[in-house]
Amino acid sequence: MLSFTVLSSIFLAGAAAAARVPRSADCTGTISSLDDVSSAQKCSTVNINGFTVPGGQGFTLSLVDGATVNLKGDVLFGNKSWAGPLFTISGKGVTFNGNGHKFDGGGPFYWDGQGGNGGVTKPRPMLKIKMSGTFTNLNVVNSPAHVFSVSNPAPLTISKVNIDDSQGDKPNSQSGSKAAGHNTDGFDVSTNDLTIENCTVKNQDDCIAINKGTNIVFKDNTCSGGHGISIGSVKSDATVSGITVTGNTIINNDQALRIKTVNDATNSKVTNVTYSGNTGTGCRRFGVIIDQSYPDTLGTPGGGVEISDINFVGATNSISVASDADRVAVNCASGGCTGTWDWSALKVSGGKAGPINGFSGIKNFSQ
Ligand SMILES: *[C@@H]1O[C@H](CO)[C@@H](O)[C@H](O)[C@H]1NC(C)=O
Ligand SMILES: *[C@@H]1O[C@H](CO)[C@@H](O)[C@H](O)[C@H]1NC(C)=O
Ligand SMILES: *[C@@H]1O[C@H](CO)[C@@H](O)[C@H](O)[C@H]1NC(C)=O
Repeated sequence: MLSFTVLSSIFLAGAAAAARVPRSADCTGTISSLDDVSSAQKCSTVNINGFTVPGGQGFTLSLVDGATVNLKGDVLFGNKSWAGPLFTISGKGVTFNGNGHKFDGGGPFYWDGQGGNGGVTKPRPMLKIKMSGTFTNLNVVNSPAHVFSVSNPAPLTISKVNIDDSQGDKPNSQSGSKAAGHNTDGFDVSTNDLTIENCTVKNQDDCIAINKGTNIVFKDNTCSGGHGISIGSVKSDATVSGITVTGNTIINNDQALRIKTVNDATNSKVTNVTYSGNTGTGCRRFGVIIDQSYPDTLGTPGGGVEISDINFVGATNSISVASDADRVAVNCASGGCTGTWDWSALKVSGGKAGPINGFSGIKNFSQ
């Protein structure tokens, strides 16, 4: 009787555990085409060989908890106009190692200078990251439009990801005089507990755009050619808080550091943002811009997204701007920006002083 009870409780505990977590077979699955995905993703180790994903189809990996994924070759995505995304990865506590291989989105096939705003339908984002754990060592080239969208279910670190959409800097036959690549945001982020570190982004839009979320670190990355490191655009009913932007290098962007909130948004806030040790060179329009008038630039601001506790402290943020650019511009609605902000570690050179409108709480800084 006793042994029966013990055995049955072990059995029940085992059954309950099996029901709680997806079954992780201690096997190695290999993917060489989309046909292999459904069985391979049941394994705790998944190896991906180089292959071409047929145009119009997404490569979707739903992994078991704790899985390890190793990329063993380059993955090309076939050319076809459709909504995407091209690649989706989900799972908890996953390790994804790209081993320096490449994902190629076929960008030049789609680029028409219009990105997500018109023209041909482009698969976007190129990569949708819904996993926690670590995602590292991947080269991503030629995204049709937006590159990464990140919504991790638990803490995630993304590192050594190199995004190169620089081929889209030049106009093509579809884009007139404009850059062919457009809306090629590097990382679109609406999430909590995310670190992005040691990555490079060469593109034509935001290096990172943080739309909402808390406890986000953007550290030691290089951003080249785009619109810099952005918080926003922040819309209604969103909180952005606990953001650390540190040690990044921003080269030839429209601006180095920006906070943009939507002019008619309500019930939102941006708070507790720390910038330290960032370096910006060749800023085309602004060094730093904080603007509550988005989608306008330095238009009529709205105060429905309260901005507070924005600080430049610690290692010096050293930014230089082009001769016709503004060093620093702040455009707050009356009462829209609050508190006292310490800007003692901000040095901006070149260009001309920009407007500081609607807020007098910036301390330890003059331009
Ligand atoms: C898609 O087209 C682009 C340019 O037109 C090309 O660079 C890329 O290799 C093509 N992709 C595939 C998988 O054929
Ligand atoms: C980023 O690079 C630094 C310097 O090489 C290294 O110490 C750190 O561990 C790297 N971070 C990640 C998450 O790989
Ligand atoms: C501000 O953010 C930092 C980094 O996420 C966090 O450690 C700190 O507790 C936050 N401060 C407040 C007052 O919330």
